[in-house]
Amino acid sequence: MKKNSPREELRELADLTLRYVRQEGDSLPMQPSGKVPDDISQPAAVELDADKEMASIDAAVLACEKCPLHRTRTHAVPGEGDNKAKLVFIGEAPGGNEDRQGRPFVGRSGELLTKIITDGMGMTREEVYITNIVKCRPPGNRDPLPGEIESCHPYLVRQLEIIQPKVICTLGRFAAQCLLETKAPLSRLRGKQADYNGTPLIPTYHPAYLLRNYTKEARRQVWDDVSKVVEILTI
Ligand code: URA
Ligand code: SF4
Repeated sequence: MKKNSPREELRELADLTLRYVRQEGDSLPMQPSGKVPDDISQPAAVELDADKEMASIDAAVLACEKCPLHRTRTHAVPGEGDNKAKLVFIGEAPGGNEDRQGRPFVGRSGELLTKIITDGMGMTREEVYITNIVKCRPPGNRDPLPGEIESCHPYLVRQLEIIQPKVICTLGRFAAQCLLETKAPLSRLRGKQADYNGTPLIPTYHPAYLLRNYTKEARRQVWDDVSKVVEILTI
C-alpha cells in the first residue's frame, strides 16, 4: 500500500477538519469568517513541541476560509523548513507553481531564492524556514489586498513566535511593510537593519524583482543584504 507523505496526511487532516466545520457550523472553534482560534492566536500556556504546534498551524491554514482568497486557491501554502530555524525568509504570496504544489517558492523566484541560500549564503533550504505574508495565491498573481494581509497575519505572527529565529529576511515591499508596519517604500527600507519585536529584520528585494532587473547594482545590493544576514547568524 502506498504510504502518504506527512504533507499529504496533513492535507487529508485539513480536508477532514473542513468537512467537520461545514457540518457543524458555528459551534466549532474554526470560525470561517471570525478570528483565528484561541489556541493559535495566543502564546501557548504550556510549551508545546514546535513541530506539533507548527503542524496545527499548517492544518488551520490548509482549512482556512478567513478571506476570499480561499475560494480561488488550489492549495494553501503555509510554509516549510526547519521549525526551529535561525533564519526565516518571508515573501509576498504564493504564485501559480506554489498554488499547484502547496509549497512556497518553487517556481522561478524560488529557484533564485534557493540559489541565494545555497550559493550565496552557504546554507540549505532545509535549515531555514520559508513562508509568505499571505498563504493563498491572489488570482492572476495580483498584489495582496490590505484586508487579505490582515486576515492572514496572525498565522505569520504565530509561526515566528514558534520558530523564534535569530534573524528575519523579508523579500520585497509587502513583507517588509507588513512586518514593520510602515508604508515606506522598499528603497527607504532596504540597506538598513530593522527590528521586529526584538528580532533583527533585514529587508531585501523580492527574487522576482531581481529576475526582472538582473543588474550588477541590484545583485550587489542583495549580496550586501544577505551578507548582513549571515553576519548576524554568525555572531
Ligand atoms: N513569490 C512569493 O512571494 N512567494 C512564493 O512563495 C513564490 C513566489
Ligand atoms: Fe486564510 Fe490566509 Fe488563505 Fe486568506 S490567504 S484564506 S486568511 S490562509
